Amino acid sequence: MSNNILAGKVGIISGALDEKSIAWKVALKAHAEGARFVLTNAPLAMRMGEINKLSEQCNAPIIPADATSMEDLEKLFTGAQEHLGGKLDFVLHSIGMSTNIRKGKNYGELNYEWFMKTLDVSALSFHKMMAVAEKQDALNEWGSVVALSYIAAQRVFPDYTDMSQAKAVLESIARNYGYRLGKQKKVRVNTISQSPTKTTAGTGVGGFDAFYDYADKMSPLGNAPAEACADYVVSLFSDLTRYVTMQNLMHDGGFSSTGISEEIVETITKLNS
Ligand code: NAI
Repeated sequence: MSNNILAGKVGIISGALDEKSIAWKVALKAHAEGARFVLTNAPLAMRMGEINKLSEQCNAPIIPADATSMEDLEKLFTGAQEHLGGKLDFVLHSIGMSTNIRKGKNYGELNYEWFMKTLDVSALSFHKMMAVAEKQDALNEWGSVVALSYIAAQRVFPDYTDMSQAKAVLESIARNYGYRLGKQKKVRVNTISQSPTKTTAGTGVGGFDAFYDYADKMSPLGNAPAEACADYVVSLFSDLTRYVTMQNLMHDGGFSSTGISEEIVETITKLNS
């Protein structure tokens, strides 16, 4: 079902790697809602070539950019405005990567070079995107910038290691840049804290299946699927949410407000009997 709520809006969508990616679903929904946009991902990630399918489906060109490189981001924002014929109404940051997680390092043995890389790729890149947008005056008034976060920013999930800090920084950047862009251009900046989702980044975290099932059992609505997350992103890009800014918005089926659920009580009771 489409209501054309993004008709006339233009923007940038980062992070679509394959069909499972949250950004992939956002692109399909934004396209269906009438938006035009440019897709971007790290040059390395594009070698897989999957993104070309999405590009065709959405009639959206791809501009490769390593989100940690100011030079790449400058080219991305200039290229996007050239292609779309003016300033942008929305930007999606859907980027995360931790070599410490990939290599299975526990919290006490993190490699600090990789830790810095995690912060750069997964959090500072969000600041860099907005800094470039600000310098180029690339955003329209009442525009919307969204990044994806996870509840490990607030609570401990041991296997999420340095990504927990990256998400805490990401959410803080949303508040601080949200203030700045709000004052300057009436642009809003938010993070969506999404349920565990079966994507390449998600399933790379140790014990993912266990905490996916745990979160599902703990959430009265169950885990929020990627498609529903994409709907939420689209609503934040639309004019229906113009005064929502500087927020970390829980999109988790009620997980973050639940102390314990009957399902978890039953599971533990069975284990103890
Ligand atoms: P994904 O693996 O499909 O997407 C991650 C993207 O980051 C990939 O497209 C990858 O190429 C891109 N990326 C990595 N390094 C980059 C760089 N240097 N420059 C540009 N792009 C780069 O996985 P998913 O789950 O769709 O991840 C999107 C966002 O959602 C991430 O921020 C992730 O942390 C967040 N998130 C994911 C959850 C999950 O359980 N899957 C839960 C909550 C948040």
